[in-house]
This record gives sequence, structure tokens and C-alpha cells, in this order.
Amino acid sequence: MRTFQQVSPLRTYLREIRREGKIIGLVPTMGALHEGHLSLFRRARNDCDLVIGTVFVNPTQFGPNEDLDAYPRNLPKDMQLAAQEHVDALFVPTVEEMYPNGFQTTVHAGSLSADLEGKHRPGHFDGVVTVVAKLFNIVQADRAYFGQKDYQQFLVIDQMARDLNMPLDVVMLPTVREASGLALSSRNAYLQPDEKEAALVLYRALEASREAVAAGERSSATLEALLRQTLLSCHGVKVDYAVVRHPDTLEPLESLEDTSAAALLAVRVGRTRLLDNTLLTPPGVQPPRPMGHRTT
Ligand code: PAF
Repeated sequence: MRTFQQVSPLRTYLREIRREGKIIGLVPTMGALHEGHLSLFRRARNDCDLVIGTVFVNPTQFGPNEDLDAYPRNLPKDMQLAAQEHVDALFVPTVEEMYPNGFQTTVHAGSLSADLEGKHRPGHFDGVVTVVAKLFNIVQADRAYFGQKDYQQFLVIDQMARDLNMPLDVVMLPTVREASGLALSSRNAYLQPDEKEAALVLYRALEASREAVAAGERSSATLEALLRQTLLSCHGVKVDYAVVRHPDTLEPLESLEDTSAAALLAVRVGRTRLLDNTLLTPPGVQPPRPMGHRTT
């Protein structure tokens, strides 16, 4: 596996690959790789001729009181895992390489980013779409892969790619979970054993909402109450939001009578903020649009 810290040699390498007509897959990450990331590498490996991973803890998507300094970093392990998944090249830029002196142009995420994570983390999605736009421009991949765990992030990136006519497919793959149901996240590393136990309540709440929909419940308000009540039944869990929204627009929904929905959770367990979500599709209702689609 090749590794690149600088844009210029990576571009030279990719120019040759592109001349050969190869399909390039991109997996952007912030490192601390886990099975969720590895599932993205595997899918990219399966779909594409060349797989580029990126490891960059992007400072512009962290707020002033967030965990930028504490964010888990383990580059040697990440390199080993990426190589095991037959990633062709890893781009591991420094902050100076991505944001050199004089950097001043950013991308602004639109209304999809206003609520939920956007409300709790002001400026977060502008940081995300700016760095992702830069990575898309640097690599010029045919496909880019993201996990469903960050559902709003996927929608915001997909919208950016379409709004700015970026010629690639943005693909979302299912959340990878531990056997317990806990969604894999680099931030799980912060959890103490008792907090990890408490964190299972996210999955329990999502499962309760799925079961309620299967049993005929269609009221978003009732489903939201069920999510919240399940989460709050667990001592030490604080709810930032627990909502049922339209799966494409994230707008509030009254009922799931003739639409599918996304149940989205953000909770704090101790000092760790955790996200999870599930799609809710009542029988006979059209499931959400296929995940990931061509943007050219
Ligand atoms: O999901 C992440 O790990 C990050 O937000 C991303 C997409 C790599 C941008 O920094």
C-alpha cells in the first residue's frame, strides 16, 4: 500500500491510474479505523479498480469545546488495517497540507444541515462539506463511501455533490454493529465498561420503534415518545434529540401512513456523545430511495 502526505505526489499517482481508465473508489475517514470503516473499504474494493482511503482528523468540523485533541488517533494500526483490506493508497495529510496559510474558501452546507447535528454542533457540517469537497477534488474518485451511522452527514454530503455537480456516486452503507447492537464508532473508545452497557439503550430504543411500526403504529409523536422514554429509562443517559423525520429531507413528519421515515438519536452517555439511527418502513410503503445514486 502506498501512503501520501502531500497532494501533489498523490495527484501524479492518480493521473496515471486515470489514464488507464480505472474506476477509483474513495473512503474518507478520520482514522481510528474499526469494522465500520473496513466494511466501506471492502465494498470499495469490490466495486472499484483502485481504492483510496484517507485519514485526516479535520479540525474545522470540531467546535471549540469538542474533542479534537482527545479524538483517538492510531496511524500505524490504521495503516496495517487498510493494507489488510487491500487499500491501494492511503492519503494522510497534515493540517497544514489541507489548510495552508492563507486558506480562506469554504463550502456552506444548506438547509439539510440546519437541524439535529447542525443545531447541536454549529459549524460542524460546513467543516465536513469543506473537507469532503477538498478530498473529492484531490482524488477525483468515481465513487465515495460513507456509513449510515452518520445519516445526516451522508444526506448533506450527497446534497453537496449534487448541488455542485461533482461527478461521482456518493454511496451509503449500513451501520456495522457489535453483537450487542451497539453501533461501531471511533468515539466508543471513550466509554467506560458501565457506560458501554448504558449505550446499548440506543439500539433498544431503535428496535422498540421498529417493533411499534411493525405492530401498526404510524404516529411520529408516539414513536418519538417511545424513543425518548426508552432512552430515559437508562440511568445516566441524556438525550440531545430522539426524532422521527422524513428520510430524504429530515423534515418533521406527522405520520408514517404513506411514507417511510428515519428515527435519529443523539445522546450523551457520561462525556461521550453517541449517534444512531434506523429507517422505518411500514409494510406496503415505498422504502427510502436507494442509498447512494449517480450525481453526474
Ligand atoms: O465521518 C467522518 O469520519 C468525517 O466526518 C469525514 C466524512 C471523514 C470528514 O472529515
